[in-house]
Amino acid sequence: MNILLISGSPRKNGNTNAIVQKVSEKLTVAHNVKVCRISDYQINGCLGCNHCQSVLDEPGCVQKDDVTRLLGEVMDADVVLYGTPLYGHSYSEQLKLLMDRHVALFKFVDGADKAVDEMKIKSFIEKKPVALIVSCQGPEENNTELVQMQFSRFCESSLTYCMGTYIFPWCSPNVTDSQFSEKTLNQLVCDIEALEK
Ligand SMILES: Cc1cc2nc3c(=O)[nH]c(=O)nc-3n(C[C@H](O)[C@H](O)[C@H](O)COP(=O)(O)O)c2cc1C
Repeated sequence: MNILLISGSPRKNGNTNAIVQKVSEKLTVAHNVKVCRISDYQINGCLGCNHCQSVLDEPGCVQKDDVTRLLGEVMDADVVLYGTPLYGHSYSEQLKLLMDRHVALFKFVDGADKAVDEMKIKSFIEKKPVALIVSCQGPEENNTELVQMQFSRFCESSLTYCMGTYIFPWCSPNVTDSQFSEKTLNQLVCDIEALEK
């Protein structure tokens, strides 16, 4: 499978990139893996102009930054894994900008005034397996609920297949002191392998 790993940390030598690197190494044995660090890309915030929602056969975003290329990679991949440090119980600012810009990939064809489960949505990434990888300094409980909910809601709107959130708690700001759970890393790899069965 073609697996895209998007790291949303602004810290090049931080925990998120270290985890993404470990995941990449484990998956490269059997898959074609591409890693994108969004700090290497120019990503503007969504303008909320709604132009993309008036174009049904292409993403149709009016902005000409690196998001066009990144969303193209998202569409082409068989599986997309998003990595983020936990910032204020949520995505990093950098990843949030990119997640918002995904709106160009799913169109609220009918029922924009209704709850998501009652809307008619056309998505370029329908059924694509996606997962969120989170590194945080604190615990999983009473800390990561918001980001897990956020990602799950994103999957509902985009019609993607939510593999879930893989949390790496107790990361140290000093990466060399961090210990990343092998169990969680292996679970993620196992869940990806299960997609092919
Ligand atoms: C602005 C900011 C907000 C943070 N908020 C949280 C938080 O809400 N919960 C938590 O456990 N850690 C929080 N942290 C710690 C980071 O999530 C943690 O150190 C993470 O592993 C950093 O990843 P990185 O090395 O890839 O940047 C925060 C760090 C920063 C800089």
